[in-house]
Amino acid sequence: MIRSRFSGTDDLEFIPSCVYDLIFRCHPPPSRQPIPSNSVPTLAATDSGASAKVIDGKLVSKQVKDEVAEEIATMKAATGHVPGLAVILVGSRKDSQTYVRNKKKACEAVGIKSFEVNLPEDATEEEVIEHISEFNNDSSVHGILVQLPLPRHMNEETILGAVNIEKDVDGFHPLNIGRLAMQRRYPLFVPCTPKGCMELLHRYGVEIKGKRAVVIGRSNIVGMPAALLLQKANATVSIVHSNTKNPEEITRQADIVISAVGVANLVRGSWIKPGATVIDVGINPVDDAESPRGYRLVGDVCYEEVSKIASAITPVPGGVGPMTIAMLLSNTLESAKRAYNFK
Ligand SMILES: NC(=O)c1ccc[n+]([C@@H]2O[C@H](COP(=O)([O-])OP(=O)(O)OC[C@H]3O[C@@H](n4cnc5c(N)ncnc54)[C@H](OP(=O)(O)O)[C@@H]3O)[C@@H](O)[C@H]2O)c1
Repeated sequence: MIRSRFSGTDDLEFIPSCVYDLIFRCHPPPSRQPIPSNSVPTLAATDSGASAKVIDGKLVSKQVKDEVAEEIATMKAATGHVPGLAVILVGSRKDSQTYVRNKKKACEAVGIKSFEVNLPEDATEEEVIEHISEFNNDSSVHGILVQLPLPRHMNEETILGAVNIEKDVDGFHPLNIGRLAMQRRYPLFVPCTPKGCMELLHRYGVEIKGKRAVVIGRSNIVGMPAALLLQKANATVSIVHSNTKNPEEITRQADIVISAVGVANLVRGSWIKPGATVIDVGINPVDDAESPRGYRLVGDVCYEEVSKIASAITPVPGGVGPMTIAMLLSNTLESAKRAYNFK
């Protein structure tokens, strides 16, 4: 079964306040709208037999989108401007087209103006960079995304490096990642999926400071920035990767586990310390003759086993997935607010 490769914002469909403040101290974001008390997410019980509570990414992503829409309306009334997000798609992969369509819909729903460029599979790197440059120079565009994966003949690093750091809403620019890694340095943008994981922990009141955290996976777009964010939030962080000798033993020490691997049911119940919080980023198709599509999506975490041991867990789908696009909208709004000096 072919697995879709996600860009940081590719999705099927925030950050503890202390970290949020740290990250944005140099570029303060406008106030986050407090969640009305009657809509603060509470940990809902899982299915029978499970003790863990469900961390509901659908619910939180809706709250974030509502907050973004409200702030955009306020900004428009005050400045006459709305945020703009440009997406560049090269080639005709069906999954990429779906993601781009979903992003466009999500932008429209909150009042972000979408710009889209579709280039053929055989487009040159120069053509892509030319469009990036145009968007870099367009003051109505506040975020630029290049849909990944790019065709094989293109150099991803060169192309992503052409995006102006002030419009790098995916947060993949080396300067943004570098600042995330350094003490007392703060990125302009945090990559959307790990930002979404932190937002879930934050909104569900999961304590991070002083806790042991394990991140499984170290990709540039999820695992590595997730580990950096947890560290900035004062967790003690270990990273497990494909060469780690004793992943089960290391993961069992964690109060917080974030898994971003892409292997269905890798993380078993025996890997989890009783009471841990588990965030499952993985999205893996597995054959399912009973599904009309012939497959269903599961995470990296064996939900059936882990939900009996953890204290809280994200489901797949409906956990981290919906958060990624919500964080993209949030990053685009922050970028526009900086551009218009709107607090
Ligand atoms: N929910 C969302 O919005 C969203 C967004 C992005 C990605 N995803 C999903 O998250 C998963 C990871 O995505 P990605 O882009 O980060 O993947 P990736 O680039 O393929 O990275 C996978 C990471 O997992 C590690 N790994 C592989 N096999 C392992 C094993 N057996 N034990 C421990 N670590 C192992 C790899 O280690 P090495 O570094 O040693 O190779 C690598 O660091 C995928 O299922 C993807 O679909 C979801």
